[in-house]
Amino acid sequence: MRLLVATTSADKLREIRLVLEGLDVAIVTLADVPGIPEPEETGATFWENARQKAIAYSQASGLVAVAEDSGLAVDALGGEPGVRSARFLGTQAGYSARFEEIFRRLSGTPGATREARFVTALAVADGSTIVFETETRIEGTLAPAPAGTHGFGYDPIFFYPPLGKTTGEMTREEKTAVSHRARAFRDLRRALFTAP
Ligand code: IMP
Repeated sequence: MRLLVATTSADKLREIRLVLEGLDVAIVTLADVPGIPEPEETGATFWENARQKAIAYSQASGLVAVAEDSGLAVDALGGEPGVRSARFLGTQAGYSARFEEIFRRLSGTPGATREARFVTALAVADGSTIVFETETRIEGTLAPAPAGTHGFGYDPIFFYPPLGKTTGEMTREEKTAVSHRARAFRDLRRALFTAP
């Protein structure tokens, strides 16, 4: 089977490859099927975006396609940055500015707790049909200050209590064992390939 893993993020692709290792599936990336325009993320939820992307990429490529939409949701900020995680403060904003803004908003919110989670919605499409979907999370808190140079995006400010470190301080193997996205792809692995 050929499976188009529809992400433009090299960081995500690295994590996904680790989880799908050993399966009898040829992973096709967007680099292998050039010329497909990137669909706009117009959905109000992770679900909508994941489904829209999976269907758009499957229809354009003629392949079964998996797409996911993910982000950081901070309880005290009403779930922000959420579906707008990649666009928070604008697409050109750097992550240190985003971290500062999150901490600023938090300190301006009386009684704010630090609970946060990374969420992934994953959808697999065959043409216009969604053949599998799942939503997964990793629960944690906002770190007191950014820590760690591994991973990407909001990893330095996401503290995971069971390991006593941020996802930015985790090795690739540690993050793959616990991350929201790895959990989603393990669900896919079990559902589509009946593999452990
Ligand atoms: P998407 O490409 O619209 O799904 O955007 C996901 C955005 O959420 C990324 O650009 C990151 O800012 C953030 N994000 C998602 N997963 C992670 C993660 O595992 N670590 C850090 N940031 C993440």
